[in-house]
Amino acid sequence: MDTNKGRLTREGIRIYEEADFAGMHAAGRLAAQILDEIAPQVFPGQTTGEIDRLITEMVAAAGAVSATIGYKGYQHASCISVNHVVCHGIPGDKLLKDGDILNIDVTVIVDGWFGDTSRMYVAGKPSVKSQRLIQVTHDALMLGIEAARPGNTFGDIGAAIQTFVESHRMSVVRDFCGHGLGRVFHAPPNVLHYGRSGTGPRLEEGMFFTIEPMVNLGRPETKVLADDWTAVTRDKSLSAQFEHSIGITADGCDIFTLSPGGLFHPTA
Ligand code: MF3
Ligand code: CO
Ligand code: CO
Repeated sequence: MDTNKGRLTREGIRIYEEADFAGMHAAGRLAAQILDEIAPQVFPGQTTGEIDRLITEMVAAAGAVSATIGYKGYQHASCISVNHVVCHGIPGDKLLKDGDILNIDVTVIVDGWFGDTSRMYVAGKPSVKSQRLIQVTHDALMLGIEAARPGNTFGDIGAAIQTFVESHRMSVVRDFCGHGLGRVFHAPPNVLHYGRSGTGPRLEEGMFFTIEPMVNLGRPETKVLADDWTAVTRDKSLSAQFEHSIGITADGCDIFTLSPGGLFHPTA
């Protein structure tokens, strides 16, 4: 018996077994497929509420369960965060307009495994500055993922993201972070998208977690609106986010939430 698996590290991070990767791949694939299939529904005049309704249908049609409906009182199958909304935007009746940028974040449960992913979309034609923000945010996520391998630390992931984002004179949100997941939605550790290399817990094969940097064109500070969910930039600057769920392997990581359709991000 391999006594090294199925344990918690001293930081409380669960080490999953090789067989568990299949469950995460199935859950991640469905979440990513929903993000692929929703892309044509993002256009000026569409409502975020209708996008969420379609996502709810897709989750049900796949025989899966939404992880967000009922989570701490949240009532929707997605978070849709438009323009200066950083995360946890609540779908509703407002019409998307030409040039709006939005993050759609979907988490599904398949056979008890959680798949959590988000991407940026554009209604109509993006401005040059929002296109740059989206590109830098996606590149930052992928650089963080490149740093996700055994022997490195969580600080290496944060440092890779922060260094890159700030080199483009944009800022990394500090108030929200990635998280461990697996058979639960949010577990240790907090995955910071900033920090110093060499700090934090060491990465080990069998750790499952998200990386989900939020990047602002202006300052990093956020505030949560009176609905207790919607987080916005304090300076009203545009914000972008991409999220993947990953698992650490012997020599790197598996991305559970890669787009089955091979989309980089659907509006590129
Ligand atoms: N999917 C989000 C995350 O990346 C969490 C959303 S919780 C909700 O962790 F309740 F707002 F949906
Ligand atoms: Co997440
Ligand atoms: Co998410």
